[in-house]
Amino acid sequence: MTYISNKKKLLEEINFNQIGVSFKGSGSYVPDQILTNQKISQKVDTSDEWIKSRTGISERRISNLGDNVTEMGYKAALTAIEMANWDIETVDLILLATSTPHDLFGSAPSIQAKLGANNAVAFDLTAACSGFLFALITASQFLKGGSFKRVIVIGADQLSSFVDWNDRRSCILFGDGAGALAIEATNEYDNFIGFDMSTDGKRGSFLNLPSKNNKEKIIDNIDFSSGGFSPIQMNGQEVYKFAVREVPLILDKLFRKTKYSSEDVNWLVLHQANQRILDSVGDKLKIPKEKILSNLEKFGNTSAATIPLMMDEAIRNNRIRQNDIIATSGFGAGLSWGAALIKWG
Ligand code: UT7
Repeated sequence: MTYISNKKKLLEEINFNQIGVSFKGSGSYVPDQILTNQKISQKVDTSDEWIKSRTGISERRISNLGDNVTEMGYKAALTAIEMANWDIETVDLILLATSTPHDLFGSAPSIQAKLGANNAVAFDLTAACSGFLFALITASQFLKGGSFKRVIVIGADQLSSFVDWNDRRSCILFGDGAGALAIEATNEYDNFIGFDMSTDGKRGSFLNLPSKNNKEKIIDNIDFSSGGFSPIQMNGQEVYKFAVREVPLILDKLFRKTKYSSEDVNWLVLHQANQRILDSVGDKLKIPKEKILSNLEKFGNTSAATIPLMMDEAIRNNRIRQNDIIATSGFGAGLSWGAALIKWG
């Protein structure tokens, strides 16, 4: 009864004409454990100098047993809700972007339970490093369509559990963490300016976290594949070439579609994969370095978490301010990539 009346009251507050999106809060969480380049070089044949010069990464955070995606996502969501100053009962939807759920059946409902968001529906969405952007776009459509009023979008990943720690070509890149945004419907303005998204499964083999498919028997003549995953497999050069080609193209397309230009942008917030990718995309779009946000030196590539983790840091240290225009792009396994143009606030 309470659930139905709360829901009805919230939806009645929305004017179903001209619904727009407003950004209300951000949050993030990273595990305490720090793995520096110097420490990785005790495990594989690499060096701080090589990793820094080829990627820009100095260190990354690694989950210990207490820090799974549910825990990290919960902590990020909680800080976003605190910044938004929302009553938890008013959250309608919790969308968790992750490729490494604590529970393969979905981790978002556990986050819902920990938050006590009793009136929300919660589910997971998987699109690797594009996951947060795809989830943000999905959430914006629910808001603009009038289905929900308040949404928490979370990006959280624990790739350290799926990295081959003997493969120096990939293990140096990844770290663990979570970030979240609190967004809501408004009929006063629309700060979700536009988006574009794309996938190309034909190039999917460049970056995989494949299932193992070990053949076992249930009884005679009935086989099954036991569960489990092989470590991440990556063709770094191909992923690099894909990113520096497709990301400027999709952002340029988005600028033309929304009638904005790269000069209107206050901040470029890209998926934090490699500093050289960030620099190359910025050069191609003629966006100066001062406008390109980067924190991969401290956290490496946290997959679905990089964009909200970066945004939360910039919002809390007052770099991103009310009404700043942010061009953002996620890209990675699938292959998948997307872009969104938003105004903070
Ligand atoms: O979310 C998306 C996730 N994936 C990515 O973002 C990956 C994008 N790709 C990249 O960031 C880069 O391709 C890497 C950082 C992974 C690799 O950098 P690269 O400049 O493309 O190096 P490379 O693969 O061309 O390798 C150059 C050399 C090779 O040695 P030889 O064959 O020239 O003797 C590698 O064996 O560097 C060697 N190498 C290393 N050396 C020291 C590869 N990894 C390492 C390492 N330490 N960790």
